[in-house]
Amino acid sequence: MQYADLLSPSDQELAKKLNDFVPEEIYDIHTHPYHSDHFAPGAWKLMGGKGPTGCAEHRAALQRYMPAKTIHGLYFGMPHKTADRPAINTWVADQVKEHGTPLSRGLMLVTPSDDREAVASALRSGLFFGIKVYHCYSGREDTMNATVEEYAPDWMWEILHEVSGIMLLHIVRDDAMEDVTNQQSIRRLCQTYLQARLILAHIGRSFNYRNARNGFHNIVDLDNVVVDTSAICESEAFAAAFKILGPRRVLWGSDFAVSEMRGRCVSTGKSFFWLYPEVIHPDYVAPTSTDFTLIGIESLLCLQEACEDAGLTSGDIDDVFQGNALRTLALHLPKETTAPTPTGPELWSRAQSVISCGTGLLSKRAESFDAKGWPSYFSRASGCDVWDLNNNRYVDFAGGCGAILLGYADPDVNAAVRRRVSVGTYSTLLNPQEIELAEQLIDLHPWANKVRYARGGGDAMTVAVRIARAATGKSGIAFCGYHGWHDWYLAANLGGGDALDGHLLPGLEPQGVPRELKGTSVPFHYNNLESLDAAIAQLGDNFAAIVMEPMRSQLPQDDFVAKAAERCRAAGGVFVVDEVTSGLRYGFPGGMSALGIDPDIAVYAKAMSNGIPFGAIIGRDAIMQAADSSFISSSYWTDGIGPAAALAVLEKTQDLSVYETVVERGTRLQASLRELATRHPTCQLAIGGMPATPSMSFDLGDQSRLAQTLYMRKMQARGFLVTGYHYLMLAHDDAKIASLLSAADESMSEVAKVIDAGTLAETTGPLVQHIGFARLT
Ligand SMILES: Cc1ncc(COP(=O)(O)O)c(C=O)c1O
Repeated sequence: MQYADLLSPSDQELAKKLNDFVPEEIYDIHTHPYHSDHFAPGAWKLMGGKGPTGCAEHRAALQRYMPAKTIHGLYFGMPHKTADRPAINTWVADQVKEHGTPLSRGLMLVTPSDDREAVASALRSGLFFGIKVYHCYSGREDTMNATVEEYAPDWMWEILHEVSGIMLLHIVRDDAMEDVTNQQSIRRLCQTYLQARLILAHIGRSFNYRNARNGFHNIVDLDNVVVDTSAICESEAFAAAFKILGPRRVLWGSDFAVSEMRGRCVSTGKSFFWLYPEVIHPDYVAPTSTDFTLIGIESLLCLQEACEDAGLTSGDIDDVFQGNALRTLALHLPKETTAPTPTGPELWSRAQSVISCGTGLLSKRAESFDAKGWPSYFSRASGCDVWDLNNNRYVDFAGGCGAILLGYADPDVNAAVRRRVSVGTYSTLLNPQEIELAEQLIDLHPWANKVRYARGGGDAMTVAVRIARAATGKSGIAFCGYHGWHDWYLAANLGGGDALDGHLLPGLEPQGVPRELKGTSVPFHYNNLESLDAAIAQLGDNFAAIVMEPMRSQLPQDDFVAKAAERCRAAGGVFVVDEVTSGLRYGFPGGMSALGIDPDIAVYAKAMSNGIPFGAIIGRDAIMQAADSSFISSSYWTDGIGPAAALAVLEKTQDLSVYETVVERGTRLQASLRELATRHPTCQLAIGGMPATPSMSFDLGDQSRLAQTLYMRKMQARGFLVTGYHYLMLAHDDAKIASLLSAADESMSEVAKVIDAGTLAETTGPLVQHIGFARLT
């Protein structure tokens, strides 16, 4: 390989494609200035007889093909056994000072045999902002097999931890990110030295893109790790990084001056191969042009393709080219450099001026949690981890208000949805997956013969109620629990205004619900036959259906659900069960299967599609036929992504016995919460809920909400999102549950002290009043 001094017409042609891609101001996070004086003669053949290439030459070289007007850089010398490192480091520091842009910075090339104190003082003095390490300085012969600690020992990390410094690390060993030793080293070091920031060069040295695709899952939760794109020439490696780590953890780097050579790296089986003009056999005659372009151009084109394929926004692309670098280096840059990202509370108050009610789901309003400090918005969610807009990561036990059972951005559900998106989600013609799903749902519910689809729990419940009314010719609904926002349900609060107390929102004014619906919906209480009988009696001849969940926070006593079904049918009604929250979570396929009772209609949503809009109404033929005589129809009820997601969810929940796993973990969690409650008697904790959704609340009378808010804040500070209910997902593995319990124990001790001191009101501060869900079912 040789440094290419001249761009060919074909390089220039290719570079034109980058015009609309590369932003005007960029940060090159991986660049090596070079001076031949620092190396033994012939050490870097690829630099030919080139003179010094410092910061100015770096910018000029890149600007030959990159349209960027300003190029900042993170500079460090080229590591080589023969290098005069002290001279390189001094020269690089001078270069950055004299010729770098104001935001450019330098890293010190450091080896394990260096003097620790000398390195520490160079970093403490601010001459360098971190270090560049390299395997060639490990003490072994076969340096390509070196472990991370062999060339980046703990003492280097200790210094970086102290100064919040950067390490630029090019890992080796055959499988790179897939190598378990590498993974363990990176995990241990990054978790021990939390203030150090690690840049994994070359997408974690994924010159074989499979290493990125299979290996990054193991470091997703390391918040102090980012990757740079330098010299990677396969878009699949970038795609894996975007998919697994997200666009906020990918930083563009050129690997100058490698970027100025012709060639590219290609994945071959388990390894990779550098392909460049000199490796092609001299007699080889290609049928078409065999021009190689520069590695830098090749890498940028691949990055561009990966950004397009991943649907990155221009904001994401700005982040990759500069924002992420500025955030990584923030502590070493002037304060005004990085535009402050708005906090959750700031954005939430902005939302309220442009979005009615702030957002579409009342339970997600900041006031439902803690108006003061709730992060409100996420930049990324994966498994049970959620990152807020300021890149803080939380382990989320609030489970997206019960919509998620597998985990956020579940890879199998996402793959099914992506497939659907690429073949088309919607057309004049129908999506055959509707039938495949219907057949599976009917197989899982042998009592049922027909399904309908909707796109959410509330609208699916409304379809079910309409069908029940059409089938019976009556309109009276006896219901228990919460079933959505629609008129049929809120009609219960017309007149008296307190009928829904204990079911939904105490004191709710059903403004906008036609007064004429008064008396059409009558509530009853779970496990209370008398109230059920009273509701049916009140509806009299107009009784059409019972609508209830199989269970919510307690199991039926004395065969309550079976008796409700019996009474319903005896009174000529349709027995509708709402499995929106219980489905797949309190039994498989639903809570009714756990009870062994067949309803007339069952309604699923939420977990059934794991975060993708969807709802299914499953019913007996005779009743479902009534839908034909009513008008129940909507364009997007035929959209393809809901069924695609539901099919993936059904496959995964069965393959991995998700219901059993979650219940088993939840039972253990519930038992541990009970122990926690006995350890903190001052807090008066009440533990309840179903095994898959254990609940914990303070029983402190009018102080309960204050204590709950303080506890949530303390958990948030420890990196957990919690509410009264723990909605368990498959992604909450034993380690996550153990970490929740230890954080809860610490937080509860602190809350207990405040309660003991009698200063709960002062410590928590005034709470913004809100109306909250208070379900008795
Ligand atoms: C039992 C039950 N039914 C219906 C709904 C409404 O579902 P959605 O919010 O998808 O409209 C919910 C939501 O919490 C629910 O828990």
